[in-house]
Amino acid sequence: MDYSKFLSERAKTLHGSLGRQTSVPIPGLINMGSGTPDFLPPAFAFEAMRKALDEGRIQYTAWTGIPELRRAIADKLKSENRIEVDPDSEIIVTSGAQEALMAVLMTLLNAGDEVITPTPNYDEYVRDARVLGGVLIPVSTTAESNFTVKVEDLEAAITPRTRAIIVVTPNNPTGTVLPESVLRGIADVATRHDLLVISDEIYEYYVFDGHRHVSLASLPGMRERTITINSFSKSFGMTGMRLGYIAAPAALVETMLPFHHAMMICANVVTQYGGLALLSQPRDWFGDILREYDRRRRGWIEMLDSIRLPYSEPQGAYYVFVDIRPTGLTSAQFVAKAREEAKLVFQPGTIGGGAGEGFIRGALTTASPKFEEGLERFATFVKTMI
Ligand SMILES: Cc1ncc(COP(=O)(O)O)c(C=O)c1O
Repeated sequence: MDYSKFLSERAKTLHGSLGRQTSVPIPGLINMGSGTPDFLPPAFAFEAMRKALDEGRIQYTAWTGIPELRRAIADKLKSENRIEVDPDSEIIVTSGAQEALMAVLMTLLNAGDEVITPTPNYDEYVRDARVLGGVLIPVSTTAESNFTVKVEDLEAAITPRTRAIIVVTPNNPTGTVLPESVLRGIADVATRHDLLVISDEIYEYYVFDGHRHVSLASLPGMRERTITINSFSKSFGMTGMRLGYIAAPAALVETMLPFHHAMMICANVVTQYGGLALLSQPRDWFGDILREYDRRRRGWIEMLDSIRLPYSEPQGAYYVFVDIRPTGLTSAQFVAKAREEAKLVFQPGTIGGGAGEGFIRGALTTASPKFEEGLERFATFVKTMI
């Protein structure tokens, strides 16, 4: 049957934009570019979730999430991010940062409206805007500035259709951490042009070499024009549990609520209890994870230096943005050849926009000894081409 007459124009434009997920495992393949962390949350989070199940806590929660979790999120934002929010009116617990982003964009975009973001960017943003008939305007960044956006470039991209600026720091896929000076510049542009800022902070705990994560909403005057998005996926190693949140001024949260309700009604209740346990207990267990990820990061750097392949300085998140231009291949060609010949999986830098051409996204998320084997295979593979 031909279904095309049933499809919306949006469905037609988005058709095929995701490719198809393959579930057949290929023997010997090592994924060295995965966005899924390889650790699990501590046992107490599982206990909290089991307890919620045992107690039969499986009905809808408040649309904005259980009050205890909202309070724990507000406490966390205050102590770690220097953002003060009211847990009752300024937080929505969501099914991950992804749902949060959609609820925010649904609230802000009319068809044809624009959101600006530095690129290379998290690939989903393009689709999210397009689903709503909006447009993501990419502002190119380059390896020369370690993919740090120039505030004047961001400002030059503003048009009368611009509704917001999306900022992701630490960044996927480049691993760039925006310094406070740049964030202050972005805050200044947003204020002068009267724009909102969507601050995606899901990699906030992954910062290396003394780089520091600063939350945009904590900068002077920014609380009222920043929508902070965060998630338990990457910070707590639970991507499939689908738990995240939005923190924003009460008037905005109220307008987002119908969209959140239309998609989810509420976030998964059992997961919310897991999240509550995670925010209520000390986070000292994460120190070991961060040290291990830093060890892998240094492994990447050492290997790349040894074969003299350039890369963008991996300052944060858990990615290494490798410059494969010396091989003479495009990002897509490199990824295909690495899979075919070295049995290694990477993401092409172009997945998040054309500014990533000539780069691939490596990651720190593969456990030893596969990780070391992956690095070795990579070096051997690349040496044949440069
Ligand atoms: C920058 C960024 N934002 C949001 C998401 C989505 O995260 P979640 O699992 O919380 O929906 C991802 C996932 O990779 C990401 O990299």
